[in-house]
Amino acid sequence: MKDFKQNLHPGIRKHGSEILEHERFKSMKDFKQHGCVSVHDHCLRVAQTSLRINDTLKKLRMNLNERAMVRGALLHDYFLYDWHDKEKRKKLHGFYHPGVALKNAERDFELTKREKNIIKQHMFPLTITKIPTNRESWVVSIADKWCSLVETIRMRKPS
Ligand SMILES: [Fe+2]
Ligand SMILES: [Fe+2]
Repeated sequence: MKDFKQNLHPGIRKHGSEILEHERFKSMKDFKQHGCVSVHDHCLRVAQTSLRINDTLKKLRMNLNERAMVRGALLHDYFLYDWHDKEKRKKLHGFYHPGVALKNAERDFELTKREKNIIKQHMFPLTITKIPTNRESWVVSIADKWCSLVETIRMRKPS
């Protein structure tokens, strides 16, 4: 699969530069998400896919908050631990990591309510009580599921 970073959507740098340059965000290169994909690259990929969905929505005259969507997507998995490590990971990672990501993101960045909701709600319907309350949350949640599926199937470590 070709390196998606060669062809990054301009909206990622436009809205996400503060996050991309943060040392803790960069530290996510050391944590694996799916297969051989780091959490860092997974978050970039989710932001990229969200922007591509948004490009289509724009053609349908739907006007989403692109900045909140990019920042929420970049920070949606900002939990900052190796979830594969049984010693270090939180129990029931799938349920609890949105809350951990939000806490870390609030510590390191000034977030809007919409950005916080995107992070908190991205695991719906697994987190059944955290129903997306805005269109940006729906887009990021769908982009996350799509990227996770592709990463799991196409980027597995060779066995
Ligand atoms: Fe997640
Ligand atoms: Fe994710």
